[in-house]
Amino acid sequence: MNERSTLKINGAGHLEIGGCDALELAKEFGTPLYVFDEDHIRSMIRVYRRAIEENYGGNGTVLYASKAFSCMAVYAIAQSEGAGVDVVSGGELYTALKAGFPAQNIFMHGNNKTEEELEYALSSKIGYIVVDSFSEADILDEMCSRRGVRQRVLIRINPGVEAHTHAYVQTATPDSKFGFSIANGTADQMCRHVLSKSSLDLVGFHCHIGSQIFERQSFVLAADKMMDYIAHVKSTFSLEADILNIGGGFGIYYTDDDPKLGEEDYYGYLKALCDEIKAKAALLKVREPALAIEPGRSIVGEAGVTLYTAGAVKDIPGVKKYVAVDGGMFENPRYALYQSKYTVVAAGNMNAPCTQKVTIAGKCCESGDIIAVNVPLPEIERGDVLAVLSTGAYNYSMASNYNRNFIPEAVLVKDGRADVIVKKQTFEDIVRNDVIPQRLK
Ligand SMILES: Cc1ncc(COP(=O)(O)O)c(C=O)c1O
Repeated sequence: MNERSTLKINGAGHLEIGGCDALELAKEFGTPLYVFDEDHIRSMIRVYRRAIEENYGGNGTVLYASKAFSCMAVYAIAQSEGAGVDVVSGGELYTALKAGFPAQNIFMHGNNKTEEELEYALSSKIGYIVVDSFSEADILDEMCSRRGVRQRVLIRINPGVEAHTHAYVQTATPDSKFGFSIANGTADQMCRHVLSKSSLDLVGFHCHIGSQIFERQSFVLAADKMMDYIAHVKSTFSLEADILNIGGGFGIYYTDDDPKLGEEDYYGYLKALCDEIKAKAALLKVREPALAIEPGRSIVGEAGVTLYTAGAVKDIPGVKKYVAVDGGMFENPRYALYQSKYTVVAAGNMNAPCTQKVTIAGKCCESGDIIAVNVPLPEIERGDVLAVLSTGAYNYSMASNYNRNFIPEAVLVKDGRADVIVKKQTFEDIVRNDVIPQRLK
């Protein structure tokens, strides 16, 4: 399976992750179940940190993009591995702080942070805020003046780099709700604007060119453009940027359509980035900025597996065969959103030949509630445990209670033990915030 993860087939022919038999996990915790491999998460943070250490003199930081999977345990892991984190909402910030994550190592993003979120960030003494609108800079500056504090900020820049990925997850092309374009001059306008604010310290620039990107050249090009912009800012505004935050976006393996990257490949992305930044800094005679990267998917994506129990099997002659599972778009909406592809395996029958192609459907009242289309599997019967691989990123974090289904439990596995990191919901949780107004009673 994957050299970095502990995913393997055990002697019983079952899927094993973190030393735990998937069938045992399904029996103990029930399904659907999110399973996270702790070693994988740690090894990915370590490889990025090592790359910055060895290629950039350690002048940088790995910020785990917590939108990929936010819960208290993952912030605890990030902290213990020496990573910072990025958050994009009050909820993610609260979760990180509640987990004891140091506020000064947190970056806050968002194209439309609410005033409450900004107040919360300031009162928490968050390290950095990445400002993404003129009005946000106004509001933040006013809030800081009122409190008598200064806030370090970065500006989100749109460097105009096109990454070859799904259009919904491209964020740095000129038509984007994120950032300020270098090409059309709004980046300069925003720079001038922020520099006019007496309580904001502009310490650097951020960009994020998209997600699930494999082309090393896309990242190098983004770094190249950002360094050009940093040199331009130095000559235009006499400001030397301290930080270049290049975002996340490193791709992962979902199916055989994707390359299977090893640690050295991820190291290679970082080395290429560091080399480019150093070369451009020398060429343009600017200081080498501290490098920040924000990988999310590549840290937790392949660390995650979702276990399901198969239910109804419906063979429509000449059309397709559906196997329905006890999950669906409420716990993994990525097929419905982006037609994302996944590898599905029969967790209790890993060595059996795949004799058929089936479509894995969820249990929601929605025809588009699909997990994977036409995936090769052995014969599947009601009660069999299926595992969908590489579900660690943007599954739990995008889950909902659609159809009032429970958001599944999440467990962290390591060396044969499994610990709950997100508890099972109950019917009581489902109605916890419901209120019947008196007049309806
Ligand atoms: C600003 C920002 N940083 C980091 C990320 C993480 O990207 P990925 O999970 O692809 O590494 C995202 C994802 O959308 C993002 O918008």
